[in-house]
Amino acid sequence: MLPLSVLVLHGPNLNLLGQREPGIYGSSTLEEINRLLKAESLKLEAKVTSLQSNHEGVLLDAIHGSLGQHQGIIINAGAYTHTSVALRDGIAAVSLPTVEVHLSNIYRRENFRHHSYIAPVVVGQISGFGVQSYVLGLQALVHHLRKDEV
Ligand code: DQA
Repeated sequence: MLPLSVLVLHGPNLNLLGQREPGIYGSSTLEEINRLLKAESLKLEAKVTSLQSNHEGVLLDAIHGSLGQHQGIIINAGAYTHTSVALRDGIAAVSLPTVEVHLSNIYRRENFRHHSYIAPVVVGQISGFGVQSYVLGLQALVHHLRKDEV
């Protein structure tokens, strides 16, 4: 049996993690997060492929390209969370189970961050646990895909 394959998408400015507003986003770099996800995927007997882009169209192409390649998506769309109807429609179009993650708790921050265009088309959202949001998101998605009861 082929292992479950999960696409992890990181949106704009997340390439600067580690140096970007560490009081809000922590000190881990994107590379460290991707390494953590790889390690977690091994434990879960799944496979992750990560991509970061500052461009909405590149993220959208990756969502489209996931059809037939991956069984689910983890997405931190960064600021596009609050602006992008295109990413929301893309997720709805491919209809792959998707988990939305955020390092910070977007509901404790500025009002403009309280609305997510993506939230209505994902299985669920994890927000506010720093790098653990990604790990929890991956665990939740794999359990969801395997329909584990506990
Ligand atoms: C973020 C929250 C967004 O509001 C922000 O634009 C980001 C990062 C987070 O992970 O906490 O770029 O998605």
